Amino acid sequence: MTPNEPAVTVDLDERSYPIHIGCGLLSHTDLILSAITSQQVCIVSNEQVAALYAEPLLNALSERDTLLTLLPEGEQHKTLGAIDTIVDQLIERAFDRTCCLVALGGGVVGDITGFAAASYQRGVKFVQVPTTLLAQVDSSVGGKTGVNHERGKNMIGAFHQPESVLVDLDTLNSLSDREFRAGMAEVIKYGLALDAEFLDWIDTNLDALLRRDQSALAKAVATSCRIKADVVAADEREAGQRALLNLGHTFGHAIETHTGYSSWLHGEAISAGMCLAARLAETEGLIDSALRRRTEDLFTRTGLPTEPPHNLDSDTFIALMARDKKARSGEIRLVLPVGPGKSVTTSDYSQRNMVQLIDKT
Ligand code: NAD
Ligand code: GLY
Repeated sequence: MTPNEPAVTVDLDERSYPIHIGCGLLSHTDLILSAITSQQVCIVSNEQVAALYAEPLLNALSERDTLLTLLPEGEQHKTLGAIDTIVDQLIERAFDRTCCLVALGGGVVGDITGFAAASYQRGVKFVQVPTTLLAQVDSSVGGKTGVNHERGKNMIGAFHQPESVLVDLDTLNSLSDREFRAGMAEVIKYGLALDAEFLDWIDTNLDALLRRDQSALAKAVATSCRIKADVVAADEREAGQRALLNLGHTFGHAIETHTGYSSWLHGEAISAGMCLAARLAETEGLIDSALRRRTEDLFTRTGLPTEPPHNLDSDTFIALMARDKKARSGEIRLVLPVGPGKSVTTSDYSQRNMVQLIDKT
């Protein structure tokens, strides 16, 4: 496949868009120019990522009116303050409604940039250039954008689909081991929640993936994007099936909020969350002990946490989980596995079992 042919398309009628996946995409000027069509282009990134990858984008866009906006690095800066920083610079440079924002970075930069694009002058175009594994397999696809509130993760945001997604697998070469493993949590999530065949493939190819074997990675990223694209096409606004992509996230977001968005990475928090979901599902008789053990084993082999932080008591944990966006009238709805590659959203579980499970950790 040439880089100009999309590996995956997110099918949303007139808002459909391509996901290009390959090595060296950032050096394909014609692909960049066809993906980013506006005259005014604001590339949003942070210092670390821009130093590595902004130059080829800026070179490709040298005939356009470009602006590079750098945000502070880290989940704790995924706030309304970051939106203000971007908007301030867009106004300063008189960027109008035809402009395009380009998110160059991980999920933090992607979520912030997408929300800035959704809000600036009531909505402008944006393109995702994800540079972490997590962003390449998940956050750059599907149009969920937003920022955190100190009392709740991703509490402020909008659905706003990108114009296209450019995944350059070469950018993963500079990613730290810890960030790479955190991204693997979302890859494993697709297998556990939705696709038994992919789950088997991950199990078999985990060592190759952790070695960042190029062909294994290309397959993992493309399969993850394909699974997510299908779910988003069927349920863009999360009326049903899309919630399954949140396996482990209700527990995980509570961990991230409790720890001030600083000590646990998102992928680490949802890894512990998926293990808690598997244990609750086993206690509720939804899965057998073999699948619970297989789940814990996958995350252990990946070097990810299987337990929440020890100082998080069940009362605090449950109060934080009740703020989850899936909660209805204070009732916590969880995504629980019901078999390999199968999951459901449910509030039909024993609260007592959940408290016991959390207190045991
Ligand atoms: P991140 O954006 O904080 O990036 C992790 C770190 O890696 C940062 O320090 C970043 O500067 C650095 N980095 C990025 N690319 C690099 C590269 N190629 N080489 C070296 N360093 C690099 O974290 P993340 O894991 O990418 O994203 C997590 C965020 O994504 C969370 O806020 C989470 O809520 C969000 N998310 C959103 C969705 C969605 O659908 N919108 C889905 C999943 C997660
Ligand atoms: N990451 C979950 C979703 O996009 O729905």
